[in-house]
Amino acid sequence: MTPVSSAVRVPTDVPLVLERCRALVRPALVEAVGRLHPWVGEMAAYSFGWCEVGGAPATATGGKGVRQALAVLGAEAVGAPGRAGVPAAVAVELVHTFSLLHDDIMDGDAARRRRPAVWKAYGTGPAVLAGDALFALAVETLAATEEGAAAVRVLSVALGDLVHGQAEDLLFAARPWTGPERVRPAEYRVMAEHKTGALLGSAAALGALLGGGPPPVVSALDRVGRRLGLAFQIVDDVLGIWGDPDVTGKPVHGDLRERKKTFPVLAALDSPSSAARRLAVLLKSGGDPREAAELVEAAGGRVAALDEARAHIAAAEAALADVSSEGGAADELRALSAYLVRRDL
Ligand code: IPE
Ligand code: IPE
Ligand code: MG
Ligand code: MG
Repeated sequence: MTPVSSAVRVPTDVPLVLERCRALVRPALVEAVGRLHPWVGEMAAYSFGWCEVGGAPATATGGKGVRQALAVLGAEAVGAPGRAGVPAAVAVELVHTFSLLHDDIMDGDAARRRRPAVWKAYGTGPAVLAGDALFALAVETLAATEEGAAAVRVLSVALGDLVHGQAEDLLFAARPWTGPERVRPAEYRVMAEHKTGALLGSAAALGALLGGGPPPVVSALDRVGRRLGLAFQIVDDVLGIWGDPDVTGKPVHGDLRERKKTFPVLAALDSPSSAARRLAVLLKSGGDPREAAELVEAAGGRVAALDEARAHIAAAEAALADVSSEGGAADELRALSAYLVRRDL
């Protein structure tokens, strides 16, 4: 057999990387959730796919685990073992789940991760409380690390940005589709970097911080994650219109119904085409979301969104060049980046 040259790169299998990180993080996540009030802990476990409503064990798919993987890879990128990033991974998955519990209430979305959203399964008040509990648990997890104060500071910045982003997202829904008050793509980018990019950035940065990485590398990984998050959110917008709800596990056309200013729609409205003009009329009259989706596509919104996402991935990869990583972590981060735009869930 011909020996494989060391110069030949074996393509990274992203699902395997996600699975490796999930297995590494899970015991600590289970332990942390186990410290919650049992009822609140059950809602968290339901959201992670570990149990049914009522507490019977389940093996539902849960989330993709992108943020926990970024934290583990952030630690590995600075030469530490992945386990050094585990408290960061636990904290960011907890914050992510907290944000989803509250987001589904804000967006009125009834399904998440192929199951009824927590507010549908347990009620709105309990879902708000469970979100609060996960938030507190995340802070406690980071505060207990050696880098406690610095780590909590990084998470606080991300949380502040996330709240800003969610506020902008909600306010955009009340803005008109066209005219001088319309939402511009530049405003969208700021909103999406805040609501999604900040947490992905903090995941990679916290992993590196807990792995003993120097401040410039921690900052570089924060920039990488923020760009990835922006691309990730644009792809999420695309999947929210054209994704298969059986695969994404989330409702389709929810964003259109909620008048969300997603990137594909903004890009379509900006195009000088007859489809764009018909789309504007349809959106203003609150017309059929299926027809709106067709017009967004005809006006080039889908292609423009995917181009935009790819440009942010390229920027993330350029920022990754500032991280002189040891081992395979940088390759795995690059592979994860590419996966984030080709994903279908
Ligand atoms: C959904 O995030 C919310 C966004 C920021 C777009 P994910 O798509 O990572 O959700 P899960 O954890 O895999 O369910
Ligand atoms: C995701 O917002 C960001 C947060 C939850 C903070 P979206 O509302 O766009 O995400 P999905 O589509 O519901 O997952
Ligand atoms: Mg939502
Ligand atoms: Mg939302």
